[in-house]
Amino acid sequence: MDVARNEEELMHRRKHLIRSSWGAVQLGLDVQATKVFYDHLIEQYPTVRPLFKDDMTMQYKKLYYAVSLAVDCLDKLDELVPVLQNLGRAHAGFGTVRAHYGAAAECFIWTLKTYILAEMPGPDMTNWLVEVAEAWEWALTLIGSVMADAGDEAIEERRQRTLVQQETSTKQFELS
Ligand code: HEM
Repeated sequence: MDVARNEEELMHRRKHLIRSSWGAVQLGLDVQATKVFYDHLIEQYPTVRPLFKDDMTMQYKKLYYAVSLAVDCLDKLDELVPVLQNLGRAHAGFGTVRAHYGAAAECFIWTLKTYILAEMPGPDMTNWLVEVAEAWEWALTLIGSVMADAGDEAIEERRQRTLVQQETSTKQFELS
């Protein structure tokens, strides 16, 4: 019983930390936040740059609104999961692999911490940020695993379809 209550309190606290930290970003950096994130991601992991278009202006907005949607849906995971699965399937087509999600989570948390520390300095911030980072780590791990699982399934389905098509054309060739 206590374990369940502790778990419920932890989830409640995590959601609160995610909403309040993202709220601070929305009021301040706004869409610039995702530009700062992508600049850092590309600096740390330059091999991901070719996956994106030369002009990433639209991408900053798309990620910003996707994150805002996820934050809004923290209490509606049954609605969020199918959206993430679709996004994950599309990402498999963009060339995104499972390891990219971990890299993105790390750079996203770096963006939040760097911005919040710069804008809201204070002795209490360090402890708060440790909690904020843990909460986002939880959310981004969940998001990344739902997207990567759906991406892997899409790749496997495509592989199976190609195999069936190859077998069918081999049979047609043998019969002709
Ligand atoms: C938190 C996880 C992520 C979310 C919520 C997310 C969100 C999005 C959204 C909303 C789009 C636009 C899709 C569309 O236009 O239909 C997009 C596109 C894209 N994302 Fe992500 N993304 C995530 C993680 C990643 C990761 C880890 C990578 C790889 C490093 C990545 C690479 C891409 C690429 C290559 C595109 C297409 C860009 C283009 O059209 O130029 N995404 N993402």
